[in-house]
Amino acid sequence: MANLWIKKPLDKLMTEAGDSEKGLKRTLGPVNLIALGIGAIIGAGLFTRTAAAIADHAGPSVTLGFIVAGIGCAFAGLCYAEFASMIPIAGSAYTYSYATMGEFVAWIIGWDLVLEYAIGAATVAIAWSEYLNKLLDYFGWQVPYEWCHSPFQSMAAVEGGVAVSGIMNVPALVILLLLTLVLIRGTKESALLNGVIVVTKVALVILVIALGWSFINPANHTPYIPAPTTMVDSGGVTHAYGGIMGVLGAAGVVFFAFIGFDAVSTAAQESKNPKRDMPIGILGSLVICTVLYILFSHVLSGMATVEDFRTHGREASVTYAISTYMPGYEWLAKSVTVAILAGFSSVILVMLLGQSRVFYSMSQDGLVPKAFSEVHPKFRTPWKSNWIFFVLTGLFAAFVPGDIVGDMTSIGTLFAFMLVCAGVWILRVKHPNLPRQFKTPLVPLVPILGILVCGAMIYGLGKENWMRLLGWLAIGFVVYFGYSIRHSKLNRPGGS
Ligand code: ALA
Repeated sequence: MANLWIKKPLDKLMTEAGDSEKGLKRTLGPVNLIALGIGAIIGAGLFTRTAAAIADHAGPSVTLGFIVAGIGCAFAGLCYAEFASMIPIAGSAYTYSYATMGEFVAWIIGWDLVLEYAIGAATVAIAWSEYLNKLLDYFGWQVPYEWCHSPFQSMAAVEGGVAVSGIMNVPALVILLLLTLVLIRGTKESALLNGVIVVTKVALVILVIALGWSFINPANHTPYIPAPTTMVDSGGVTHAYGGIMGVLGAAGVVFFAFIGFDAVSTAAQESKNPKRDMPIGILGSLVICTVLYILFSHVLSGMATVEDFRTHGREASVTYAISTYMPGYEWLAKSVTVAILAGFSSVILVMLLGQSRVFYSMSQDGLVPKAFSEVHPKFRTPWKSNWIFFVLTGLFAAFVPGDIVGDMTSIGTLFAFMLVCAGVWILRVKHPNLPRQFKTPLVPLVPILGILVCGAMIYGLGKENWMRLLGWLAIGFVVYFGYSIRHSKLNRPGGS
């Protein structure tokens, strides 16, 4: 009889990790880890989802949404840090939970992480396509509307003009293809390149804040929290706007902007002193980004009107706001566009890489087919897995609107974070004596608050998104009971 709750022994996990990651040099210190985190964090969430949250949920009170999301991430980050310091090997929430909460919970998290990584990559690719069009605009070119939007979008909804429907988002597909090829060739994340991109991204965010501050129009910030009402968004969905529900909805949407700090935990084996530096890397990158986000969203919502973000300024919103409301700063709009394209590419790469790592581990455990861990004879990369995920992410990027995939990413990741918070608490009760180099403070208060704040954001994301999450999990259960439980190496008699 298969055991749903079977746990992977910690020593086995360490041995496997030692085998597969042999030779990794421990070179990363706290500053490198913070840079790694920021490289994965700042991306489409800030540069496209902020505008969506202003338009559809909260107006200027999007800043409060960032605060709520930052608080939720801080609680979850404190829990992630305990796991990362306890099991300091390359991995993710999936690996931690297999050793601590058992196979079924690990499966749910691993399956759920597809929403975070693969669907997240599709979201950033769609945002990349928007900014590419802005760049082309500077040269007098444009990708025709039909070929850079999904079939569920039409120009009438965006421009209020003649209705033109999207067919497929070709640029989003192309960037995913290019980065999949890069991954298959096995380009190592270069710390230097990542460093350059991080410095550029942070510098631009600070520039926009500093230069844009004097272009804030106080009228755009009044009232700061719009009166609660309902609205129909560009996707035809009716939901709350303004008031507390607006802030919670915005928090759920911009939560996307924080995703990636958990990527720091995957570098544990390359860190010089993982037990001390993991928490510093995770929480440090989170704090820096939260401060930047709050200031940035204050400026953005102050420069342009809510109506702008519902119409002409919905796509490539930051470039739009600078070009329209900061006369004389066209150079800033252009630099932002170029930097965003480079920055988004690095985020997509990290997400696709994270996805293939999680499924590599799951495949080695027998929970998903072998193809996901078959390594290319020459490049030594999980190339089949990369191709399979190219097809999956490509389908979403080409045919589904950015708002939908963005919110699916948020809700899936929020759910995974809730499980991580619960996991830390459960482990403290069940295995109080396991060595922990970093201890989440005030357990169970912090995990409970993490669960509550992440749960509130899930609530704010609304019915359509709950249904999408439930649908995804239902498919996951079918796969688990139809395939994984029977192929699980731990669950097979005499399994190794
Ligand atoms: N946090 C990452 C972004 O905003 C996923 O693009």
